[in-house]
Amino acid sequence: MIDFKQIPTPCYVLEDRLLRKNLELLKYVEQEAEIEIICALKGFSMFSTFPMVRQYLAGSTASSLNEARLGFEEMGSKTHVYSPAYLDTEFDELLTYSNHISFNSLNQFNKFKDKAIAAGVSCGLRINPQYSEVETEMYNPCIAGSRLGITRNQLGDTLPKGIEGLHSHTLCENDSFTLERTLQAIEERFGSLLKQVKWLNLGGGHLITQADYNVEHLIGVLKGLKTRYPNLKIIMEPGSAVGWRTGYLTSTVLDIIDSQGINVAILDLSFAAHMPDTLEMPYKPIILGAYQEPVAGKPTYRFGGMTCLAGDFYGDYSFDKPLEIGDSIVFDDMIHYTMVKTTTFNGVNLPSIGIWREDDSFDLIKSFGYASFKDRLS
Ligand SMILES: Cc1ncc(COP(=O)(O)O)c(C=O)c1O
Repeated sequence: MIDFKQIPTPCYVLEDRLLRKNLELLKYVEQEAEIEIICALKGFSMFSTFPMVRQYLAGSTASSLNEARLGFEEMGSKTHVYSPAYLDTEFDELLTYSNHISFNSLNQFNKFKDKAIAAGVSCGLRINPQYSEVETEMYNPCIAGSRLGITRNQLGDTLPKGIEGLHSHTLCENDSFTLERTLQAIEERFGSLLKQVKWLNLGGGHLITQADYNVEHLIGVLKGLKTRYPNLKIIMEPGSAVGWRTGYLTSTVLDIIDSQGINVAILDLSFAAHMPDTLEMPYKPIILGAYQEPVAGKPTYRFGGMTCLAGDFYGDYSFDKPLEIGDSIVFDDMIHYTMVKTTTFNGVNLPSIGIWREDDSFDLIKSFGYASFKDRLS
C-alpha cells in the first residue's frame, strides 16, 4: 500500500506494480493476437521504467528526433517514427535510431525515400481513412482539412515503389468496437493497397488497459484482420494504455481562502503547467479521497494552481472533513501525457519524479530546479 507521507510534493509517482499489470495485459494481447505492441513515447516517456517496459513490449515509437534517440538509448532498440514532416538537418541522425519510418505525404516520401531505403529503414505512408469516432476535434485527425495522413483519392491503384507499410492513427481512448468499425473503413478504402504491403501500424488510442476494455474481442478483431490479410505484420502503438492509472501527482495545500463564498485551496502545483490536459481536453481530474462532485452539506473546495493564470483552477470537490493548510491532495492517473507535457510557466518548478516500488519502498528518481527553468530560456 502506497504511503504518500514518504513522498515529497509536488511529485509524479508511478507504482511499479500497476505498470507491470498493464504491461502483462499488453503482452498477453501481443502473444494471443500475434501482433507487435510498441510504446508511444509521446504518451509515456518515463525512461526510468524502460528496463521493465522492454521486458514486455517490442520497442517504441517516436514522433521526433529527440524521442527516437530516447527510445534507442533507453529502450535499447530502434524505433518506429512518424512525424507530419521531417527536417533536412535531422533526417540522417533520425535514420540511425529508426527501423520503420512513416511519411505523411507523397512529397515527404519522395524527398527522403532514397536515404531511408539506403539506410535499410522500412518506409510507410500514413493514411487518413476519413473515419474517426473521436468527438473532441483537438484529438480527431479526420476533421475536414486535417493535415494528418493521405486520403485514398491521392493514391493510385499501386503504391509507389519502396513503400512497405501503411500507418493509421484515428483513435483516442477508444475500445475494440471502435477499432472494428475503423478497420471496416480502412479496408473499404485501402483494402487493395493493404495487399501490397508488409505491415500495418494501427496507431494508438487503444485503451486496452482500461478496466472494461474487452480484450478478447480485440484479439478476435485482430485475428480476423490477419486472416483477411495474411501478408501483414500488425503493429499497435499505444501510449495512454501503457501508463493508464499507474500513478499520481502529489501536492500540498499552501493556503485556503474564501473567495466570495467559495473555499479555494491553493496547491503547490499548477493545472496549467503540470496537468495541461485537464484544461486542454478538458477533464476534471480525480482526487483520492474526495467526492468528485460537490455534496451538499459537506466541506467543498475549489483547487487553485500556483500561477497567476486566472483559469488555473479546478473544482469543485467535497470532503468528509474540512481541509487544513499542509494537507496533502493526491491527483490520480497523472502519469501518461501529463509528465511529458509539463512546463515551467510562471517559473514554477517541475514536479519531482519518483517510483513506488513493488517491495513498498520509494525511490525519488529526479528533482528539478532553477537549471531546468533557465535551460529553456536565453
Ligand atoms: C501517431 C500516433 N501514434 C500513437 C499515439 C498514442 O496514442 P495514445 O496515447 O492515445 O495511445 C498518438 C497520439 O497522439 C499518435 O499521434
